Amino acid sequence: MSSGLLLFWLISSFHLISVSTSSKDTSFVFNGFGQANLSLDGSATLLPNGLLQLAKDSQHQMGHAFIKKPIGFSSSTLLSFTTHFVCALVPKPGFEGGHGITFLISPSVDFTQAQPTRYLGIFNASTNGFTSSHLFAVELDTVRNLDFHETNNNHVGIDVNSPISVESAPASYFSITEQKNVSINLSCGDPIQVWVDYEGTVLNVSVAPLEAGKPSRPLLSRPSISQKCCQVEDCLLGSLQRQGHHTSRELLQLLDISKLPRMPQPRAEHKKPSALIIAPLVALAIIVVAVLAGGFYHMKKKKYAVVREPWEKEFGTRRFSYKSLYIATKGFRKDGFLGRGGFGVVYRGDLPQNKPIAVKRVSHDGEQGMKQFVAEVVSMRSLKHRNLVPLLRYCRRKGELLLVSEYMPNGSLDQHLFDDRSPVLSWSQRLVILKGIASALFYLHTGVEQVVLHRDIKASNVMLDAELNGRLGDFGMARFHDHGGNAATTAAVGTVGYMAPELITMGASTVTDVYAFGVFMLEVACGRKPVEPRMMQAEKRYLIKWVCECWKKGSLLEAKDPRLGGEFLPEEVELVMKLGLLCTNIVPESRPTMEQVVLYLNENLPLPDFSPYTLGIGSFTPVVVDAVSLTVSCTSRNWSAPSVSSSSGNNSKDDEQPLDIS
Ligand SMILES: *[C@@H]1O[C@H](CO)[C@@H](O)[C@H](O)[C@H]1NC(C)=O
Ligand SMILES: *[C@@H]1O[C@H](CO)[C@@H](O)[C@H](O)[C@H]1NC(C)=O
Ligand SMILES: *[C@@H]1O[C@H](CO)[C@@H](O)[C@H](O)[C@H]1NC(C)=O
Ligand SMILES: *[C@@H]1O[C@H](CO)[C@@H](O)[C@H](O)[C@H]1NC(C)=O
Ligand SMILES: *[C@@H]1O[C@H](CO)[C@@H](O)[C@H](O)[C@H]1NC(C)=O
Repeated sequence: MSSGLLLFWLISSFHLISVSTSSKDTSFVFNGFGQANLSLDGSATLLPNGLLQLAKDSQHQMGHAFIKKPIGFSSSTLLSFTTHFVCALVPKPGFEGGHGITFLISPSVDFTQAQPTRYLGIFNASTNGFTSSHLFAVELDTVRNLDFHETNNNHVGIDVNSPISVESAPASYFSITEQKNVSINLSCGDPIQVWVDYEGTVLNVSVAPLEAGKPSRPLLSRPSISQKCCQVEDCLLGSLQRQGHHTSRELLQLLDISKLPRMPQPRAEHKKPSALIIAPLVALAIIVVAVLAGGFYHMKKKKYAVVREPWEKEFGTRRFSYKSLYIATKGFRKDGFLGRGGFGVVYRGDLPQNKPIAVKRVSHDGEQGMKQFVAEVVSMRSLKHRNLVPLLRYCRRKGELLLVSEYMPNGSLDQHLFDDRSPVLSWSQRLVILKGIASALFYLHTGVEQVVLHRDIKASNVMLDAELNGRLGDFGMARFHDHGGNAATTAAVGTVGYMAPELITMGASTVTDVYAFGVFMLEVACGRKPVEPRMMQAEKRYLIKWVCECWKKGSLLEAKDPRLGGEFLPEEVELVMKLGLLCTNIVPESRPTMEQVVLYLNENLPLPDFSPYTLGIGSFTPVVVDAVSLTVSCTSRNWSAPSVSSSSGNNSKDDEQPLDIS
């Protein structure tokens, strides 16, 4: 039977300090191993993104990766080191699992005599217990070996010269928030943080999931002096020359890893150890072994596999595991399907003890632009306005991005406007929505540090919360999608009918957002889409033109939504329509700013003087004229579109951008 374990040694941060003499310490941080000088053997491979893959696929594999530069441990009375690393044990779907991963300190990098499987690639049947081997290891072991007195198939152990751990415990950590021990499934595929601290005579080992900090209590704490036969210190010192240096107490303060940044920014720090330290050859080794074990994992990990890259670690807490989304949406089941938006399919999800969420699955072809997009997603955190759909988290998989936002119980505005089965929104409700969205756009354009453009304002991107307030969603989606590299749709960003004519030549800016908002106002007041190519009466096909025609005829209200009945204030409807025409002026300079729009809508400022004959008013220039593109974007029922911020300057190039012709 073929069997294996896909083991990723996913290091986003590795920190080791060894204080060994009075004056020098050796420390380094690797955020990904691209910069590290490693000696690899066996199945160990350094992937282009800096990930170190220690074993993969086939049976009885072992792979070692050692830091080439020897780290000296001298005989000073206060020998200390501390390390913090992140790893992941990722089972391969359809295969049985392997054994595990160890952090190793060894005087030699030659492990040709070592055996895989339960010997973890560092021991063999005859080296067991030989103090001369000077092997110190911390193991994350996912197999229970009874002859090594193991009590659990998911444990962390301290090994000194022998695979029989001197100390071990089921993998868990003490959670401060929950005030209890929380167990960790080592083989769940998620990154796990490991800390190994040795100070003086006490060795502590802690593990925690990526989102947690260092646990306040170590999982394992080993007072090495009490066990004469297998002292860590003796093991570390091995055959070293005794140097007799004193380590100052002040230096030891450095070893408090809690004072170090938990996820340091990428930097490759290599302090040169002094000659004195190099002399005693103790190599620091990182070892991993993946091997065939007994029928272990029922591997369904690939199903939950996510893509993580080193640049994402700063967004760590904004990520969601695919598994939790999968569970929240009950496996993206049909009954949770909320609708299909311009760029993806949206599902409802329920997280335990949380408000319901909406999960949008956006597929993408390339990784290009993904980093920027995710950065923008994350920057949504800083965008807070009651008329924006808050984006909660994201999750990235191969070829797919999942955006998690609050669930909006009343779905999107377009269904209320255009779907005859939905109850008609009253005029006052519509006005509240328009004012809300105007204020959200004003906020995006001016209220935050950078100008944030929405780029795709339309009824289907406006969600309605429980109180029927409008909430703008789907930020920057259109722009994001150009990075997918779909050349066939590369024209301009936005949706036909809402795109300002200058968009093609000048690019998106706050005034193109104002244009789209103008179309949106007309859409809400008239209860119809901006372009209806199949409309029988040709003069009604283009909403902007039609409203202007009605105004010219002196019967502006003729264009209003017939479903409004009689319950509206004519002045208000006329104000909205005129403002819509003002915003859709084909001369960009003649459009108001969002600030002015807010003032006009709230009647804090009278509309400027203009008529349906004013230059630029009421002329609709379809941005894309071929028939296929004139289909207006449509979305279906009840969903909340996760939104994404698009923070950019005023003049990004549109020729890179796709047309939403869904
Ligand atoms: C890695 O080793 C090479 C040669 O052994 C050396 O030139 C280089 O500077 C080392 N890189 C680091 C980051 O230490
Ligand atoms: C075990 O490893 C030692 C060296 O560490 C080697 O001398 C010995 O031959 C090995 N034994 C077996 C059975 O492979
Ligand atoms: C948590 O685990 C530690 C170490 O395994 C143990 O000493 C402690 O008693 C546990 N605490 C609780 C509250 O279970
Ligand atoms: C760890 O997770 C895997 C898959 O989720 C499961 O098959 C396995 O039983 C779990 N192990 C433990 C010890 O809970
Ligand atoms: C090890 O853990 C103990 C108990 O929590 C703590 O008092 C001690 O400072 C820790 N030592 C190191 C080196 O982290």
